[in-house]
Amino acid sequence: MKMSDRLQKAPLSGIRKMFDLAGSGSINLSLGEPDVSPPDEAVRGMSEAAAKGLNRYGPTPGIMPLREAVAYRYKRHGIESGNVMITPSGTTALLMIAQSLIDPGDEALVPSPGFVVYGPHTALSSGRPIDYKLTDDGFQPDIDDIQRKITKRTKVVFLNYPSNPTGGILSEESFKAIRDISADKNIIIVSDEVYEPFVYEGEHISFMGELDNAIVVNGFSKMMAITGWRMGFVTAGKDVITDLTKMAYHVCASPNMPAQYGILSAMPAIDTYLDGVRRTYKRRRDLITSRISNIDGMDMDAPKGAFYAFPKFGYDMTSEELAMRLVKNGLICVPGSAFGQYGEGHLRFSYAADEDKISRGMDILEKVANGIKG
Ligand SMILES: Cc1ncc(COP(=O)(O)O)c(C=O)c1O
Repeated sequence: MKMSDRLQKAPLSGIRKMFDLAGSGSINLSLGEPDVSPPDEAVRGMSEAAAKGLNRYGPTPGIMPLREAVAYRYKRHGIESGNVMITPSGTTALLMIAQSLIDPGDEALVPSPGFVVYGPHTALSSGRPIDYKLTDDGFQPDIDDIQRKITKRTKVVFLNYPSNPTGGILSEESFKAIRDISADKNIIIVSDEVYEPFVYEGEHISFMGELDNAIVVNGFSKMMAITGWRMGFVTAGKDVITDLTKMAYHVCASPNMPAQYGILSAMPAIDTYLDGVRRTYKRRRDLITSRISNIDGMDMDAPKGAFYAFPKFGYDMTSEELAMRLVKNGLICVPGSAFGQYGEGHLRFSYAADEDKISRGMDILEKVANGIKG
């Protein structure tokens, strides 16, 4: 059966590739998912909803009490329930947005290194992804590079802060520059903020308040450690939410009902839960940063957000070769090249793993790195 050219050209994520090559007993620092437990209220709330019979289709943009709870959490940005749509995952939200905004031949500016779906989602929507660079200093969007790459067909700029894979957070200066470009050139900002709860220094700057020119994707996967539930949300202007709801109807009719009730039960105490999770991740971040910074030929600053370390290395090999060498020695990570052309020369380690695992992983990294030098 011949699939569309669009689908045939779409790459599979390179993130799982190393995982598939690893031996059993390897230390896995490749996966971007929380290893902590979800809030008890969420699990209980979902089971109770299913047991009570809340198992049917629901409203396409999500149940109103959950839209209201999300709006309440972000009310400082001027968000109301009509600005919120609940989605079956952040990934689905991103694809629905690409499908809704992009016409054939439209261009979307995509961060590189960056999360792996923005380019393929653009191409699957018959658009052209154009990579833009991040700066060496703090992984900010390189505004000159973006300006150079804007054409009459540029429709969208994707941003992702706190960032996967770099761990960078958005500076006030970058925020303003992107906002100005969007207003001047009529380019829609699609801001993926799924790591918003995980900032260890400074503050997360959100595009949520920019209702006229930004669509924000966020989600419950990372926030509540429920990656398998597949639940996310979008905030945007009310007209945009109405349009996206039309797309959502054709994609899924409605998001998972019991999961929405579970998430709703966990919303009132979510900040207390997240305070604990952030403390845990911060300890692990400090550990991995100090271990990597002490390795000759590896260089990184402490990541300010998300749960990834993205060191640069100075060895004469590609990131894939280095990652392969680590896999053979029992440590799984992701080569920077899996995150786009400008990710080469880096490795990505997830520190959503316990401290013992991180320490043993770093022992392997140190041994392999010392072997290369010598
Ligand atoms: C930057 C970023 N955006 C979006 C997602 C998708 O999250 P989900 O589909 O689980 O909501 C991920 C998952 O790893 C991510 O790293």
